[in-house]
Amino acid sequence: MASGKRLTRHVVPHNTNLAEEPDLWTLVEGRGLRVTDSTGRTYLDLAAGGTRANAVGWGREEIAEAMYDQAKKLHYFTPADSHNAAAVKFAAILSELMPGDLSMAFFVCDGSEAVETAFKLAKQYNYYRGLPRKYKIISRRDAYHGTTMGALSAMGANHPLRRVMDPLVPGYLFVERPYCYRCPYGKDYPNCDIDCAQVLEKLILDEGPEQVAAFIAEPIMQMGGCVIPPPEYFPMIREICEKHDVLLIDDEVITGFGRTGKMFGIEHFGVVPDIMVMAKQLTSGYVPMGAAVTKPSVIGEFPVFRHIHTYGGHPVACRAAAVNLEIIKREGLVENAREMGEYFLDGLKELERHPIVGEVRGIGLWLGIEFVQDKKTKARFPEDNNPALRIVKRIREKGAFCRPSMQSIEIAPALIITRSDIDEAVKIIEEAIVEEVQFLGM
Ligand SMILES: Cc1ncc(COP(=O)(O)O)c(C=O)c1O
Repeated sequence: MASGKRLTRHVVPHNTNLAEEPDLWTLVEGRGLRVTDSTGRTYLDLAAGGTRANAVGWGREEIAEAMYDQAKKLHYFTPADSHNAAAVKFAAILSELMPGDLSMAFFVCDGSEAVETAFKLAKQYNYYRGLPRKYKIISRRDAYHGTTMGALSAMGANHPLRRVMDPLVPGYLFVERPYCYRCPYGKDYPNCDIDCAQVLEKLILDEGPEQVAAFIAEPIMQMGGCVIPPPEYFPMIREICEKHDVLLIDDEVITGFGRTGKMFGIEHFGVVPDIMVMAKQLTSGYVPMGAAVTKPSVIGEFPVFRHIHTYGGHPVACRAAAVNLEIIKREGLVENAREMGEYFLDGLKELERHPIVGEVRGIGLWLGIEFVQDKKTKARFPEDNNPALRIVKRIREKGAFCRPSMQSIEIAPALIITRSDIDEAVKIIEEAIVEEVQFLGM
C-alpha cells in the first residue's frame, strides 16, 4: 500500500488528501477576525477557525489569563469521584443560560464526545427504567454528529469517513431531513404536510416505540450549507417524541452560544429538548471542551451514570468557558450575530442574480450559498466539477477564508464581525463567483 507520497510534516492531517496537499496551510497567529499564516499573509476568517468554533475572536487575553490562573491554582483532578470547584461554578453558570429545565451538565472534551454522552444517557435512562430493549437511535439523512464510533454511526451520509469504518454501531436508523430547497418528498413549502417531521412518527411506529430511545437533530444542518427547517418542524418533532417516550437530543455543537442570533439554535423553534449537546463556541476554541446537558427528570432515573472521561470538567477549560460566556454576554455578541447576520444575508442575497447561485440562505451568522448548474431545475454540477471547491480557493487567494459543504460554501465568522468586514467579505465572495462563472463559460 506504499504510495510514495512526499510527507513533509510530522502531524497526521485530519481527513485531508496527503498526496494532493503534502504542505498543508499552517497558521501562526490571530487577532480579532484575522489570522496570519506561516508565510506572513493575513486573512479575513469567515469560518471562525474553519469549524465555526470561535465566537469571541482571536487574542482574548482575559481568557488566556483565566486559564493561566487556574493552571497555577489547580490544573487537574479526576471527575470520577470528586468535583473541582471550577467545574461546579461553571455548571451553575451554564444551567442559568439553558432553556427549560436543562440543568445537569456532563463535561467532556469535544462535540463527538458530547454526542456519545447523549447516546449513553438515552440508553442508560431506559436501562435503569427497566426498558433495556429501548435502545435505538434515530438520526437524519445528511446529519453530521462527529467521529467517535457512536457519533459516526449517526452520520446520515455514505461519506468516506463513515464508509471506511464499517461495521458501525448497530441500532441506528435514519429519516429524511427537512430541506425545503430540495424537498426529499418533491413538495413545495408551505404546500406540504411537513412530511419531513411526520416520517419520524412512521419510523418509530414501524420499529415499535418500545425499541426507540432517542431522536437526534441539529436545529440547523450543515451538510449542503446551512439548511434551515420550516418553523413547524421542531414543534411537531417535540410532540412525536413526547407521545412515544423518545428522548429528543438537540445537537447544538455548531449553533450553540449565539451563532444563529439566539443563544441556542433550538430557541428559534420554541421547543425544549431532553438533552442538549454543545462544544465549539462553548470555549470559542481557546481550549477543547464539550458538554451534554440534561434534565433532572432524566438523570434522576440513574443510580449511577456509567461513563467517564479523564479530562471531563477540566478546571482550565471550565474557567475559559466561563470567561468566554461572560464576553459573549457583555459585548452583546448574540445580538450582534442577529443584526450582522441580517446585514450579511442582505448583501449575499444580491448574489442570487449570478447564473450559478441557486440559493442564498442563513440565520444569524451562519450562511450558505448553494451553487447549481441550472437554476430552474436546481441540477447540481457533476461531482468532479464542483464549483464550491474552486470558489473557496479563489476566496483564499483574495485574502479571506471560508469552507465548502457539498456544492455550497458556508460563511460563519466569529460573532464580533462588523459591517465593514461584511462589505469586504461580500465583495471578495462576489469577485470569486464572477471569476467562476467566466471559468465555466456560463
Ligand atoms: C453538529 C455537530 N455535532 C458534532 C460535531 C462533532 O464535534 P467535534 O468535531 O468537536 O468532535 C460536529 C463537528 O463539526 C458538528 O458539526
